[in-house]
Amino acid sequence: MQKPKLKSVRGIVTLTPNPALDLGGAVDHLIPNEKSYVHDETRFPGGNAINAARMIHKMGLPVLAGGFLGGGIGQEVEDLLRREGVPSEFVKISASTRISVTVSNRKDHLQTRLSFPGPQILLHEVQELIRWLHRIQSGTVLVIGGSLPRGLTTVRLKPVIQSLQKRGVAVIMDMPALHLRPLLACRPLLIKPNQVEFQELTGEKRKSIPAVISAARKLTSRVSWVCVSSVEDGALLLNRHRAWYGQIPPIQVKTTVGAGDSMVGAMTSIFSQVDPTLWSSDELGEPLLRWGLAAAAATLITPGTQLGEFKKMLTFYRRIRVQELK
Ligand SMILES: Nc1ncnc2c1ncn2[C@@H]1O[C@H](COP(=O)(O)OP(=O)(O)OP(=O)(O)O)[C@@H](O)[C@H]1O
Ligand SMILES: [Mg+2]
Repeated sequence: MQKPKLKSVRGIVTLTPNPALDLGGAVDHLIPNEKSYVHDETRFPGGNAINAARMIHKMGLPVLAGGFLGGGIGQEVEDLLRREGVPSEFVKISASTRISVTVSNRKDHLQTRLSFPGPQILLHEVQELIRWLHRIQSGTVLVIGGSLPRGLTTVRLKPVIQSLQKRGVAVIMDMPALHLRPLLACRPLLIKPNQVEFQELTGEKRKSIPAVISAARKLTSRVSWVCVSSVEDGALLLNRHRAWYGQIPPIQVKTTVGAGDSMVGAMTSIFSQVDPTLWSSDELGEPLLRWGLAAAAATLITPGTQLGEFKKMLTFYRRIRVQELK
C-alpha cells in the first residue's frame, strides 16, 4: 500500500467504490455454445472514477484515486495505475476486485461488455473508507464514479458527502440512477448521466433536446450543472438558467468505452482550476462542455479501453461545436 498522500493533494480526489480490471480483446465472432478465441488482450485499470482520474492525470493535473481494492486483481489495478503515474490510496478489502470484459467483433466493431457485480464490502472496510473521505480538504473536487458494491449503501454515504460539502468540497457524481437518485439530496455540483441513465433517473422516456432540457431543468434545484450525454449525437449541459448543446466533429469511432468518463475527467479539471466562488458561474458552461467533448472525442478515436491523449484533446478542442440554446 502506498503512503497516504491525501494531505498534500488539494486539487482532485476520485472515489471508485467498485473498481474493475478492464480486460479487453477482439474476436472474429461470438456465437453461443461455441468457443471464441480472443486476440489482442489488453488490461487496464477501470471503473468510472478511475477512468476520470486517468484522464485528469493525462491533462497534467494532480489527482488522487481512491476506493476499495482487494486480492490479486486489486493489486494489478493498483500496479497499472502506478505504471500510468496516477497516485492512488485505496482501502484494502478482503474480497477480490472484479474483472470487466469488453470484446470487440473484428468485422463489425460491435462491442460486448460484461460487467460483474463485484465484491461484498465488510463493515470495518466501509468505516475505513468513511475515515478516508473525512480527510479530504476544503476546496477539493471529489468525483464519485460508478456503482456501489454490496455493503456500501447510499444511506451510509449520504451523511459523509453532506459533511464534506459543508466543508467546501465540491462533489461530482457519475453513477447509475439507482444510486444517484437518493444522493441528489446531497446537492452535487455536477452529474453526467448518459441518455439511458438519465431516463432511468427521471422516468422520462422522451429523447429530443427540448424534452431532455425540460426534464433536466427540474433537477437544477438540487444540482448546479446537469450534463446529459448521447442526446441526439451530442451532449447537453444546463444550469438553472441556461443550456448549451455540443457536438464532436465526424470521426472514426474505435471504441465508445470511457468516452463519458473522459468527459467527467475533463470537466472536473476545469472546476479544479477555478476559484470555488466560480463553480456555479454561467461563464463555465461553454468551456465545460467544450473540454468535456474534446476529451470524449480523443477517447473515441483511441482503440480498446485506452483513453485519449491530451495532445489529441487539444486538436479537437477548437473543432467542438458548442451553441447556447435560447
Ligand atoms: N459512437 C459515437 N459517435 C460519436 N460520438 C459519440 C459516440 N459515442 C459517444 N459519443 C460522444 O461522446 C459523449 C459521451 O459518450 P457517452 O454518452 O457514450 O458516455 P457514457 O455512456 O457515459 O460512457 P462511459 O460511461 O463508457 O464512459 C456523447 O455525448 C457523444 O457526444
Ligand atoms: Mg458513463
